[in-house]
Amino acid sequence: MRNFAFSYPTRIYFGKDSVRDALTKEMPNMGETVMLAYGGGSIKRNGIYDEITGILTEAGKTIVDFGGIMGNPTYAKVQEGAKLARENNVDFILAVGGGSTIDCSKAVASQAKLDEDLWDMEYKERRFPTDSLPVGAVPTVSGTGSEMNGGAVITNEAVNIKGGLFAATPCFAVLDPSYTLTVKFRQAISSAFDSFSHCMETYFGSPRTDNVSDDINEAIMHNIIRNIRKMVANPNDYEARSELMWDSAMAENGILKIGKVTDFQCHQIEHQLGAFTNCIHGEGLAVIHPALYRHLAPAAPEKFARFATEIWGIDPEGKDTLEVALAGIDALAQFIKEIGLPTTLHELGDTAADDETLRKVADTCNIQPGCCKQLDRDEIFQILQEVK
Ligand code: NZQ
Ligand code: ZN
Repeated sequence: MRNFAFSYPTRIYFGKDSVRDALTKEMPNMGETVMLAYGGGSIKRNGIYDEITGILTEAGKTIVDFGGIMGNPTYAKVQEGAKLARENNVDFILAVGGGSTIDCSKAVASQAKLDEDLWDMEYKERRFPTDSLPVGAVPTVSGTGSEMNGGAVITNEAVNIKGGLFAATPCFAVLDPSYTLTVKFRQAISSAFDSFSHCMETYFGSPRTDNVSDDINEAIMHNIIRNIRKMVANPNDYEARSELMWDSAMAENGILKIGKVTDFQCHQIEHQLGAFTNCIHGEGLAVIHPALYRHLAPAAPEKFARFATEIWGIDPEGKDTLEVALAGIDALAQFIKEIGLPTTLHELGDTAADDETLRKVADTCNIQPGCCKQLDRDEIFQILQEVK
């Protein structure tokens, strides 16, 4: 195994109706003034806003309202939140919403403590914040796993880059699966596939030899497939939503990454697609993954063949390793179709299929050295052409 150090900073409160008990326990850590950060208003419509403001008010907290966080949250919104936090002497940020709300809040928490510009500090000088306001997270849609990590994916519109910032890691998170029951079906499937993508992007990293992280990863992937199917059959299935909620945290809380170098080239491409087209994250991933993996499989056929046999039950009899690998990718593509996710860029919206946009996407991706093969910009453009 590769060497690693491991500790976990996020306390988890999981389960139906757990928010009151969780917030009550965490109240002493929240100071006097709590910024309540949320998205476009779903929490006002489904009652979560009233429930949480009620608990905070009973405990005597001053609430600073920071709503309107958009999907693919912008850096301008981060700056707006940081200014509001400073002006109101906010002690704690409670992020209630999806990955967008939680990511924006984590970046606000870091920017609020900095005199310099967070983006420039990280992207120009490769320095990272060491101090942030404390953050608590209450995910209301599961999928990103943002509630258990320190990454914040933010769209900087001035430079047309959607990229990760290293920001605050939530000190606690409340995971109530019943909150996710009001998420629109299309978004719920997309978010669940995001978790599956996190598993794959980690699994296809290195080392690709036997390791316990990949064995756990396979268990999570099986669970996600099973429970997406259950959710498709019955969108109100609480058990399925609860399994998917913990899968989501497990896929992106770092445990599957122990001892591994991850790949995440699909995410890098999708993030830029999101920067130019504002597409839904999980849907963009669903379109790109099979095509990307047909390009990557020849560089790591054994691992893709293991994915085929262990995850999709492909029978290797009479096939060479690459054939098994490609059959597994076909099974992945078939699953994406089966659960109703888009399979072409065209289905994401018209701008996504425009060649000029796709060239810009390919030319601006922050492609890290991939684990089995690093793509160049022309190959990324080629992949995007293949899924038009
Ligand atoms: O904004 P509101 O009104 O709350 O509506 C949201 C939004 O329209 C809605 N929603 C959330 N909870 C709901 C609900 N609607 C009804 N009932 C509820 N209980 O769902 C819509 C999508 O929300 P959003 O937060 O945008 O979705 P998601 O959780 O998929 O987050 C996507 C963002 O997270 C980033 C993505 O790039 C994208 O920007 N990611 C963050 C990661 C991380 N920090 O670890 C990892 C991921 O790979 C990902 O990149
Ligand atoms: Zn993702």
